Amino acid sequence: MKILVINGVNLNLTGRREKHVYGGESLAEINGELSAFARSEGHEADFFQSNLEGEICTAVQNAEGVYDGIVLNAGAYSHYSYAIRDAIASVSVPVVEVHMSNVFAREGFRHTSVLTEVCKGEILGFGKQSYFLALESFWR
Ligand code: DQA
Repeated sequence: MKILVINGVNLNLTGRREKHVYGGESLAEINGELSAFARSEGHEADFFQSNLEGEICTAVQNAEGVYDGIVLNAGAYSHYSYAIRDAIASVSVPVVEVHMSNVFAREGFRHTSVLTEVCKGEILGFGKQSYFLALESFWR
C-alpha cells in the first residue's frame, strides 16, 4: 500500500516545542522511522507537512487515485478547520486522524475535532507511536 502521512500546523517544530508533550525527536526523524517501518512491512509511505490550511486541503485532494490511505495530524486545525474536514469528505481515500498527545487530558478546546466524523478512525495519546499504529491500521 501507498500511504501519505500529512502533518499540519506547528508539527514542523516537533522535537523543539513542548518536548514534555510531543517528545524530543524531530519530525524528520519520526518520518524516517515511519518510512523504514512501512518498507519493512512491504509498503510505502510519503510525507507532507504544511503550516497552511489550504495546502493541507490540496494535499488531501491530490491524494485521490494516488494513495491508498492518509495518516493526518492536522495539529490545531483539527479543532476548527471545516475546510480540511470538507477536503477529507471530498475524497474516497480513507483518512486516519492522529494526535501524539492525549487531547482529552488537555485544554477543553482540544476535546473537539471537526475531522473525526469524516475520518476512518482516530489514534491519539501514544506519542510518536500514534503514527505507527495509524500507518499499520491500513494493512493489519
Ligand atoms: C496535536 C494536538 C493538538 O491539539 C495540537 O494543536 C497540536 C498537536 C497532537 O499531535 O497531539 O499541534 O495534534
